[in-house]
Amino acid sequence: MAQLLPLLTALVLCSYGPVGSLGCDLPHNSAPLSRSTLVLLDQMRRVSPVLCLKDRRDFQFPREVVNGSQFQKNQTVSVLHEMLQQIFNLLHTARSSAAWNNTLLEELHTALHQQLQGLETCLVQAMGEEDSVLTADSPTLMLKRYFQRIRLYLDEKKHSGCAWELVRMEIRRAFSSTADLQESLRSKDGDLASP
Ligand SMILES: *[C@@H]1O[C@H](CO)[C@@H](O)[C@H](O)[C@H]1NC(C)=O
Ligand SMILES: *[C@@H]1O[C@H](CO)[C@@H](O)[C@H](O)[C@H]1NC(C)=O
Ligand SMILES: *[C@@H]1O[C@H](CO)[C@@H](O)[C@H](O)[C@H]1NC(C)=O
Repeated sequence: MAQLLPLLTALVLCSYGPVGSLGCDLPHNSAPLSRSTLVLLDQMRRVSPVLCLKDRRDFQFPREVVNGSQFQKNQTVSVLHEMLQQIFNLLHTARSSAAWNNTLLEELHTALHQQLQGLETCLVQAMGEEDSVLTADSPTLMLKRYFQRIRLYLDEKKHSGCAWELVRMEIRRAFSSTADLQESLRSKDGDLASP
């Protein structure tokens, strides 16, 4: 952890490019920090998934929310933020501390937290003042429901080792799908200037 922090900070600082007309000063190129998050999620594995086949569940990931081509850049920023926040919340509980290697979990918290902070300034500017109301099919609401399904599943399975393992894999897939979103965020620079 002690050695990792400066590295993560350095990664964060150069992780996001300024998001064009949003006027956000996001760190440059999010790829390295995303990669270290995925590596941590891989390292956390404790049970062979082969032993958990009976517990498999389709969590119905809302694929449309990571299809950047459908959304304005401000929505893309909120989707990214919601995804990171939900993963952070899910893995920041007493139950998840009991389930996972705490060293790796702490590193993951740090990585997620720094990505969240990187997005926050931008989110505030993107959302404006009155746009935080969730409409029925808003992408962030779809994500909230998706993570709610995951939490209900963990409760139902009494937070078993297998349930956590399947959730870890699910989260990893969900997180890695945001790589495309981040890409679309970069390629959409300027959209908000001419809504
Ligand atoms: C993403 O959105 C575009 C435009 O609405 C659509 O044509 C495409 O099929 C969608 N892709 C996925 C994977 O949903
Ligand atoms: C947790 O993971 C770290 C890093 O991989 C490792 O050094 C440590 O031994 C692990 N701790 C436990 C209790 O497995
Ligand atoms: C995104 O921006 C568009 C146009 O500027 C606006 O109509 C929309 O309400 C905004 N959406 C969010 C979630 O902020």
